[in-house]
Amino acid sequence: MPEKTLDVLFHETLKDIYYAERQILKALPKMARAAQSADTKAAFEKHREETEGHVERLQQVFEIVGKRAQGKTCEAIQGIIAEGEEIIEEFKGSPALDAGLISAAQAVEHYEIARYGTLKTWAQQLALNEAALLLDQTLQEEGATDKALSKLAVSAANVQAKNTA
Ligand SMILES: [Fe+2]
Ligand SMILES: [Fe+2]
Repeated sequence: MPEKTLDVLFHETLKDIYYAERQILKALPKMARAAQSADTKAAFEKHREETEGHVERLQQVFEIVGKRAQGKTCEAIQGIIAEGEEIIEEFKGSPALDAGLISAAQAVEHYEIARYGTLKTWAQQLALNEAALLLDQTLQEEGATDKALSKLAVSAANVQAKNTA
């Protein structure tokens, strides 16, 4: 059995996030369609475009390590996305829908931030400097998205409060 070194772990985690990003790419249009406010829709649509870039960067990282771009089923992201779908079902037509969608999207971002933070550090340790740079670019975008969603969450909750006052 080959030794399970850090580069093996790096490659396995790369497959995990590659799978996750492609699932996210499918989930974001559904969330944009479900969202009630124009701002929330726009935020999801903007991040869908960014996510296309995340998939492309991962393909570049696979190339750098000389591996085929390939995903590995990640049950964690499946569960997080399923929670978002549950919110769409259960809060359809309710004033709290957008607040729920934003919270689901932030759970996705936090998953991604955890993965990219780890992968970037490992890439640095493996002296894969170009890969580390690519992973960091995506990490920055995930962080910025999370912050934008936090702001949106406050206004979405305000709208909800007004509607129910
Ligand atoms: Fe992403
Ligand atoms: Fe993201």
